Amino acid sequence: MRPILPLLLLSVAASGCGDAPVASPTGLAPSTDVIVAPVLPSALLAYSDARLPLPRHFTGPSGGPPAIAADNTPASNVTTDAGATLGRVLFYDRRLSVNGRVSCASCHRQEFAFSDTARLSRGFDGGLTTRHSMGLSNARFYTSGRFFWDERAATLEAQVLQPIADPTEMGERLDELPAKLARAAYYPALFEAAFGTREITTDRVARALAQFVRALVSTNARFDRAVGANGGPNGADLLTAQELLGQQLYIGRAGCARCHGTAAHISDAVHNTGLDATITDAGAGNGRFKAPSLRNVEVRPPYMHDGRFQTLEQVVDFYDRGVRANPALDPRLRTPGGQPQRLNLTVTERDALVAFLKTLTDRTFLTDPRFSDPFVR
Ligand code: HEC
Ligand code: HEC
Repeated sequence: MRPILPLLLLSVAASGCGDAPVASPTGLAPSTDVIVAPVLPSALLAYSDARLPLPRHFTGPSGGPPAIAADNTPASNVTTDAGATLGRVLFYDRRLSVNGRVSCASCHRQEFAFSDTARLSRGFDGGLTTRHSMGLSNARFYTSGRFFWDERAATLEAQVLQPIADPTEMGERLDELPAKLARAAYYPALFEAAFGTREITTDRVARALAQFVRALVSTNARFDRAVGANGGPNGADLLTAQELLGQQLYIGRAGCARCHGTAAHISDAVHNTGLDATITDAGAGNGRFKAPSLRNVEVRPPYMHDGRFQTLEQVVDFYDRGVRANPALDPRLRTPGGQPQRLNLTVTERDALVAFLKTLTDRTFLTDPRFSDPFVR
């Protein structure tokens, strides 16, 4: 995939040719006074299901309903190659923030499965977000189609505009965004390819960003290569005995798959997991939160909505013996008598669970040029 595209190789100066980028007092990226065009290949990369079909263990039964049954893609915004290409450019374009200092990718970094290693992330003016950035692998397969830890966005199309307008994250006015984007020479052609005309609207920005986020599907981890013909473990790339033990626990006694289900390994709904005895963040109400897909979870610590755990070992220890009683604690994490669960896992079993979670790491996804920064700076 050699980047060519002389078509978009225009470099337009917004405020004087050759201006040096303005140094940032906050340690953030310098502001983008000089408009640099993205470098894209001449042929569209493949994002659509038509060109890149989902593997069989996502579309067919694999010990329960398939991931595709939870697909939140609306009929009105099916992912196309040109739509996701525009979405990719928008996702990495710092011009979406009011001072040109942050893009979506500042807090959602590919190498960290589109999350951030900081507990809280820094916005355009150095301010901190109130929760931890969410990993975006397989967000397409969250069944309700609601977004954010607390599900406050009813759709992905609604969600993607909120960080742009958020006073901490990007601080840009949505009513001014189309005219601002139109000043970058590369956008009209990208909008035309995606939506048929050169018109730039907030709605089209939302649709393209949502298409790109839904295209972030991770299906090439060792877990996937190990899926056998019948959807069970151990096809081409065998899992070790330790990883298989971890998988058995995940599906069986440790009960993880009851919430982090399907081949997409995404949570089914919001739950109160008993992180605290007294709820400090109500989330979706009563301390309930959704969990992003556990795909690539190894590379994106820290964990939970507040980033409280630094390692997967700490997460497993929490489920083993750290779940706190509180009135809203999910029934799945209680004993039949209503007490918080105590899994009483041995060290071997806890290590095996962590080893299994690491089989969900997909190096192809983390380095895929289709998802990478098109702005060569
Ligand atoms: C300053 C950091 C920051 C920036 C910039 C940012 N995000 Fe986020 N993102 C977050 C945080 C933090 C959350 C979780 C917030 C919450 O749930 O309260 C989040 C959540 C999300 C989610 C929800 C995922 C899910 O499964 O529910 C999506 C999707 C998302 N961001 C996409 C984007 C897009 C698209 C952009 C650019 C338009 C963007 N983000 C810009 C920090 C950021
Ligand atoms: C009752 C449903 C439920 C069960 C059972 C469950 N989880 Fe979770 N899990 C969640 C929810 C909800 C979150 C997000 C909680 C939050 O951030 O407040 C979560 C978060 C996580 C995270 C962190 C994700 C992130 O992006 O930060 C990991 C890792 C995890 N769970 C692994 C497991 C493992 C391993 C098991 C089995 C031992 C398990 N879960 C059992 C619902 C569940």
